[in-house]
Amino acid sequence: MPSEAHTVAAPSLLLLLLHLSSVVPATADNGEGVPVVSTAGGKVRGTVQYTNDLPNKPVYTFKGIPYAAPPVGDLRFRAPQPAAPWEGVRDASAVGPHCPQDPGFFAFWPTKLPHNDTDEDCLTLSVETPRLEKDAKLPVLLWIHGGGLSVGVGYFVPFTSLSAHQDVVVVTFNYRIGALGFFSTGDENAPGNFGFLDQVRDSGNGLGPGEQMIRNFGGDPDLVTIFGESAGGSSVCYQVASPLSKGLFQRAISQSGGCQSIDVNPKPLERAVTLAEDLGCDVKDTAAMVDCLRKKPADDFAPAVQRMIMTLAAQGHMFAFPPVVDGAFLPAHPHELFDANQANPVDYLLGANNHEYGYIFTSYMVPGYEQGMTEDTFVMMLRMLVGRLYPGGNQDSMVAALRQVYRDDENPDDPMAILKQFTFAYGDQWYMAPTVLVANKLAGVGQRVYLYENQYGPSHLTANRPDWVGCDHADDVYIVPGMAFIDVFFRDGGLIPFSTDDKKVTLDMMAFWGNFARTG
Ligand SMILES: *[C@@H]1O[C@H](CO)[C@@H](O)[C@H](O)[C@H]1NC(C)=O
Repeated sequence: MPSEAHTVAAPSLLLLLLHLSSVVPATADNGEGVPVVSTAGGKVRGTVQYTNDLPNKPVYTFKGIPYAAPPVGDLRFRAPQPAAPWEGVRDASAVGPHCPQDPGFFAFWPTKLPHNDTDEDCLTLSVETPRLEKDAKLPVLLWIHGGGLSVGVGYFVPFTSLSAHQDVVVVTFNYRIGALGFFSTGDENAPGNFGFLDQVRDSGNGLGPGEQMIRNFGGDPDLVTIFGESAGGSSVCYQVASPLSKGLFQRAISQSGGCQSIDVNPKPLERAVTLAEDLGCDVKDTAAMVDCLRKKPADDFAPAVQRMIMTLAAQGHMFAFPPVVDGAFLPAHPHELFDANQANPVDYLLGANNHEYGYIFTSYMVPGYEQGMTEDTFVMMLRMLVGRLYPGGNQDSMVAALRQVYRDDENPDDPMAILKQFTFAYGDQWYMAPTVLVANKLAGVGQRVYLYENQYGPSHLTANRPDWVGCDHADDVYIVPGMAFIDVFFRDGGLIPFSTDDKKVTLDMMAFWGNFARTG
């Protein structure tokens, strides 16, 4: 600290420090604990964070850095464009707005978020790194958030623990979701997959032209692992399949999401027409339709998608705007690309939790969860599953075959036993089976694939659900970022408690992920 600073009062000292850092040229850490780094877009000033268990290990944190031009106006429904550079030093101490989405997400997401603000101008990223020297060459982990490609936020908690404990650079970011991210007319007027293009391809979110950016934050652009959970895991699967993403990352981790967990929609135009009609746009030709939709307020899309979901859910569909075969990002269904050995040659770690439908989804979907499920309801749910996956097949025989597999022979008619079988059937169809399928396909063509099953749920969650529930969907989201070693609050206050076991498993999981990023 400069000696003259001792003579000024605290608030002005802060101002002075800020002023000093803004005139310091792009250096790593100017000695005031206020790091300034150069990026392709300009300089950014971050903050320094610490985990609770490593008080001497700074993690330099930069939030809300634009990585693409705001995807608004004429840029809506188009591939991301480069961000405009800025003058001077940009404040990177706060997370940018989330992408527009159903506000229900903010009432549902269990941990306290930095804020609840959304804006279509949402393509920003955050970086956490323990080193700032250009030659540090640390492994880089790029987190792709979940939320069905329709809700969710990039920076939902700091990844400070993973960064500090594993000496890795962690990048989190928002990508376009819902109709704004995946609307498709099935032709060149709105090819779709815009959210996937945001994730790794273009404009410097750590990859591609962002190579320079990774280097300036201590990362090695040739040692990038993309990782994500749920729809983030599915996104990773699609990125592994896409020829446009070739060479942009070396390793990949899918936590609870194969490609088929959010399968491609073979008929995007039908959904496009439904949305356009709902929003009062003419649907006779797709160019005019897209033109009209570009003029609608961004906040009109999520409610319209919600209205579509009401109808789609009755047919077993969970997603209104899933990925599409657009001929560029995705030249064919990802499974065809895998079978033809056209996947990107990366090390791939993928897996799922052992009870993906154990609690969160099922207790929400099934009224009277505590009392179990009737045979009729189970058969109806199996019928929906089969109808969605095999619309042309012999549904009666498939349902009967499934009921044979998903049966508790000792208590075939017990409602609790039936409910349990439902949780296994649905967990398998949405998460485990798509994951195993991808692993088998890639192993079959000689790719380096590692498959895991996660059995550990954090104690504050397992304490509040029945004993028969195993590791539920998203349990790993508390563990992998290392929440046990930072202060994370419940949505409406109260510190989330973590047990000794939670901490031990967290250290192990972070080491597994860190080692994979380092060595494959
Ligand atoms: C976000 O919204 C939810 C739901 O209304 C609320 O419970 C939560 O406190 C809000 N969080 C913040 C940071 O404002």
